[in-house]
This record gives sequence, C-alpha cells and structure tokens, in this order.
Amino acid sequence: MQTVTTLKDLRQAVDDLRLTGSLALVPTMGALHEGHLTLMREAAQKARHVVASIFVNPRQFGPNEDLDAYPRQLAEDSAKLEAEGVALLWAPGVAEMYPQGYATNVSVSGVSAGLCGADRPGHFDGVATVVLKLFNQVRPDMALFGEKDWQQLAVIRRMARDLDLTLPHVDAIHGVAIVRDPDGLAMSSRNAYLSPQDRANAAVLPRAMDAAIADLLAGEPVAPVLAALEEALLAGGFASVDYAELRDADSIALLPEDNGNARLFVAARIGGTRLIDNKAVSA
Ligand code: PAF
Repeated sequence: MQTVTTLKDLRQAVDDLRLTGSLALVPTMGALHEGHLTLMREAAQKARHVVASIFVNPRQFGPNEDLDAYPRQLAEDSAKLEAEGVALLWAPGVAEMYPQGYATNVSVSGVSAGLCGADRPGHFDGVATVVLKLFNQVRPDMALFGEKDWQQLAVIRRMARDLDLTLPHVDAIHGVAIVRDPDGLAMSSRNAYLSPQDRANAAVLPRAMDAAIADLLAGEPVAPVLAALEEALLAGGFASVDYAELRDADSIALLPEDNGNARLFVAARIGGTRLIDNKAVSA
C-alpha cells in the first residue's frame, strides 16, 4: 500500500492506479474498526483498486466537541488497511486540505435539518465540504459510506445530485449496512471512549430500538412508543437522549406515523459519549 500526504503525490498515485482499473474511495477519519474494514472489503468487490482516506476533519466538529480527543492512530490504521489489500492511503494534514486563505463552504439544506444537523450546527456543512473535496481530489468511480451515519449518507447523495457530480459507477455513492458487536451495539470509533460499565449498558440502545420497532409494527402510536424508548435508555444507564425520532429514510422528513419507508433514529449520551444509531421500521 502506498501512503500519500500531499495533493501532488495523490494525483500521481491516482493517475498510476487508474491505468489498471477502477477506483473505489472509502473516506474515513481513522480509528478504524471492523465497520470500516467491512467498507474496504465491499469496496474491493466493486472496484479494481481501493483508495482509503484518513482525515480528522476539523470543519465537521463544533467548538465544544471532541476534535482534540478524537483518536488518531495512523500506524495502527495503516497496518489494518494494508492487511485488507487497500492500494492507496490518502492521509493529508489540515494545512494540505485547508491551506491558508481557504474560504469555501458546501451547505446542503433539507436533509441536513433535524437530527444531528440540529444538535451539531455546521456539522453537515463540514462533512459535505470535505467529501466534495475528497471526490475532486481522488476522482473515484464510486465511494462507500457506512449506514450508521444514515443522515450523512443522505446529505452526500443530495449534494451529488444537486451539484451534478459525475462519479461514473451506477451505484456511485454506496451505503454499507451497519456492523454491530455481538450485543447489538453499532460499531463506532467513539465506542472506545466508553468505560467497561458504560459499554455494557450501551447495549440497551439497540435493544430498546428493536422493542420500539416491534411496537410500531404492531400498530402502536408513534409518540408513546418513542417516549417509552427514551425512558428505557435513561433507565438503562444513558444520561440523556438528544433525539429519538421516526423519519422518512430518504427525505429525512419527520413522520407522525409509519409511512412504509420509515427509519428510527436515536442519539443519546452515556458517560459523556454521544452514540447514534438508526434502524429500518420493518419486520
Ligand atoms: O463518516 C466519517 O467518518 C466522516 O464524516 C467522513 C465521511 C470521512 C467525512 O469526514
């Protein structure tokens, strides 16, 4: 695996790879876990070469968020990518990505409103901006993202449609199903922040979501089901719930009732760590 940290070297490396086949980009912020590695494996099924990026993007962190504390472990991550057969690692520093005088922001409205967009103002602008830059830098045939960040995926798809991005592959922005630990907790780089006790308690999140989905499918009204879900999280060791909402899977519009394309979205805090999860409302 080749690792590049400058745009000049990236362009050369991408041109070289392109001579022998298609490229799939997997953008990440590092601290790679099995969920990321699943993305790499799926990317390898879809394209000749996998290009991974690792960049902890300051523009998607709010002033009181965990930018400084966010785990950075490039050597360990590189070894994992190498073992997966990734061809190229793009690992720019902040000054390479946002040089002196950088002044452009990409803002996607609609799908960015609500959920994490409401709790983390500016977050999705930061995501859209860096993802558009990554697309322009790597010029991949396709890119893969985890469905744990479902709203992020919706924002990126909207941006790609709105700005006529021309990623050649038919399924150019590909969502990959959430990878879960055996107790059901969605894998996340932030799970590493949890104490052993909080990690054990955190499994109440997917369990409570499953129970809520079962109640919704049984025809129970949405508001009391969501209230019961919040109560279960607080009783199970979560300190607070940022949101527990039913939304349309594509438009991310808030739903008063299941419309057949509904998804349950939750963000909740445990031991100072904010966890998110989402599940389809289906049997
Ligand atoms: O999902 C992430 O890890 C990040 O939001 C992404 C897509 C790499 C952009 O920084």
